[in-house]
This record gives sequence, structure tokens and C-alpha cells, in this order.
Amino acid sequence: MLFNEQDSCVWTEKYRPEELKDVIGQENIMTVIENFVKKKYIPNILFAGPAGVGKSTIALVIAKKIFGDNWTENFLETNASDERGIDVIRNKIKNFAKIKSISVSIPKICMLDEADALTREAQQALRRTMEKYVNNVRFILTVNYSSNIIEPIQSRCAIFRFRRVEDKIIIPRLKFIAEKEDLKINDEAINIICDLSNGDVRKAINILQVSNYAKENVTENTIYETCMFANPKEIESMIKLSLQRNFVESRKKLNRLLIELGLNGEDILKEIHKQIYLLKINENDKIRMLEKIAECDFRIKIGGNEYIQLEYLLSQFMLIGDRNNVVK
Ligand SMILES: Nc1ncnc2c1ncn2[C@@H]1O[C@H](COP(=O)(O)OP(=O)(O)OP(=O)(O)O)[C@@H](O)[C@H]1O
Ligand SMILES: [Mg+2]
Repeated sequence: MLFNEQDSCVWTEKYRPEELKDVIGQENIMTVIENFVKKKYIPNILFAGPAGVGKSTIALVIAKKIFGDNWTENFLETNASDERGIDVIRNKIKNFAKIKSISVSIPKICMLDEADALTREAQQALRRTMEKYVNNVRFILTVNYSSNIIEPIQSRCAIFRFRRVEDKIIIPRLKFIAEKEDLKINDEAINIICDLSNGDVRKAINILQVSNYAKENVTENTIYETCMFANPKEIESMIKLSLQRNFVESRKKLNRLLIELGLNGEDILKEIHKQIYLLKINENDKIRMLEKIAECDFRIKIGGNEYIQLEYLLSQFMLIGDRNNVVK
């Protein structure tokens, strides 16, 4: 994909909230965070939750608001997935923590992004640093799962659990960005972006940006094609054809998805799995189909050829469909 100079910025960064009021969703925690900022006080904090829902964004806003113009010298950001060993705690973080801030009278802030990637040894070292330098520095740890953080650290932190953002909250944000970027997109396509992003705001904005480069008017199909996602309607028709014993046509659909559109076999399988629940066939047949999907999934995971496995799956659906002959 070619970006011209003017477009070269990534929308997730361009539209990263600068103020707490621009953060969408997370209503359950925002009042407390607003109070921290107002009082210029934070405890050690653990932000836990799924990807792309505002954890790092809020940590940055907190630092910028608390320290104002002095924020860069009082804020250290490390990404634990790049530097996950004990050395980073012993050196970089400890050095930052040892020295009291000269520009402000409150503790500095150290953000440890993706802290669940820290080894246990590194977490033990962090625990000691946290205790020893509590007057100089406060930590904001962000993680996907709080269970990956050792209990003594959890108990020293105020834990905030982030939620996936609801579609009805993401939609106005996407429309706002589309309008700012002069992008024409219909409601159907916006709904599909929400379906595909599953509450992950970063993912939703990224899909919006990618589809912007594909077509002037973004529709449902643009989204599926540019993002290489399987269109559920095509998958549904492929499954139905196989259950109706029309193996040739069903296989043609598979060819289109795998070869023409270049979709990933595992993604196709995931969509087949979703579609099974929507089929109007008896429960026993659904169970048998699920069994075959699980088998196919396993074989692909251990290195089986995607094309052969998916074709095998369709042939098995055909045998199942043969028994009841009810799929319309
Ligand atoms: N709650 C939100 N409100 C507004 N924009 C958001 C929100 N959450 C995410 N975004 C958008 O997605 C981008 C990435 O968000 P952020 O870095 O905060 O995610 P994260 O929760 O830290 O995810 P990860 O677990 O992957 O680190 C932001 O720059 C912003 O554009
Ligand atoms: Mg983050």
C-alpha cells in the first residue's frame, strides 16, 4: 500500500486522545482516573484488559496532565515485551526511580507497558524497587491478563479493569474520523468493522484506515476484501452447498476464498465455526460438524495442508447433510 506524504500518519496515533474526555467507553473507571489527575496524585496502578481499549493512552494522558510541560523528564515509558529481563529493572528503571524529580514535588511516573511479558525474576526485582522508591516514583503497569503478574505486585497496585468498547460507542468515533478524513463509508460497512474488531478500538480504526486506501466509497465488500477477512455470507453459502451435496460448487467457493482472495485457512475455519450455530439443522448434526471442525483445526495447527483439510471438511459436511437433507 502506498502512502503519500500527507497521509503517512497512522490514524490510531493521529486520533489518540490527548484529553481524558476524548477517551471513549471505560466509564466504570474514568471518574477515579479524573480524580487522580485533578489531585495530581496516583498510587501504583495496574491497568488490565484486552488490546486496543485505551490502557496505554490513559497512562500517557495521566502523565501529561499531572506534569504539564515537565512531563517528558518525569515520565519513563518502557515496553516490557522488548525488554523483559531483570536487567531492565536493575538498570533503566532503578536508575530512574532512585533520583527524585527536580522539577516537581510529586513522585515521577514509570509506565511499564505490557508488563505481563516480564519474567518472574524481573517482577520480583520490580516489587522491591516499587517498595524502596515509593516516594520518588509511581508505576503504571499495563497488562492483558492481571493473573500474569505476581500476587505481591498486584496487592501493591490499584487494579483497573478495562472493558472491550461497545459497538454503539465505537460507531460515532469511526464516523467522526471518517468525516475528518473525508472518507465516504456506509453504515453497513461501519457495522462490519465493529463486528470484526470485537471491541478493540485500535483494530477498528486500523481497518477504517486500510479501507480508505482501497476505494473511494467504502462498502461491506471493501472491508472484507481489503482486510482479508472471510465474508460470512460466502462462508454460509459454501457450507450450505456442501450440506446439499453439491460438492463441486462448494469446492469452487473454497477455491475462491483460499486462492482467488488469498484468505488464511484458519480464518476461514473460524468463520465456518461461527456459522454452524446459525444453521437451521438439528443439534446432533451441528455436534458432528463441530467435531469435524475441531479435527480439521488440529490438523492445520500441526502443519496439515489448509486446502486439503478444508476440502476434507466440506466432504464430511456432505456426508452429514446426506442424512437429513433439510438444508435450504
Ligand atoms: N478508549 C479509547 N478511546 C479512544 N481511542 C482509543 C481508545 N482505546 C484505544 N483507542 C485508539 O487505539 C489506539 C491504541 O490504544 P492503546 O494504545 O491505548 O491500547 P491498549 O489498551 O494499550 O492496547 P495494548 O494492550 O495492545 O497495549 C489509540 O491510539 C487510540 O487511537
Ligand atoms: Mg498498550
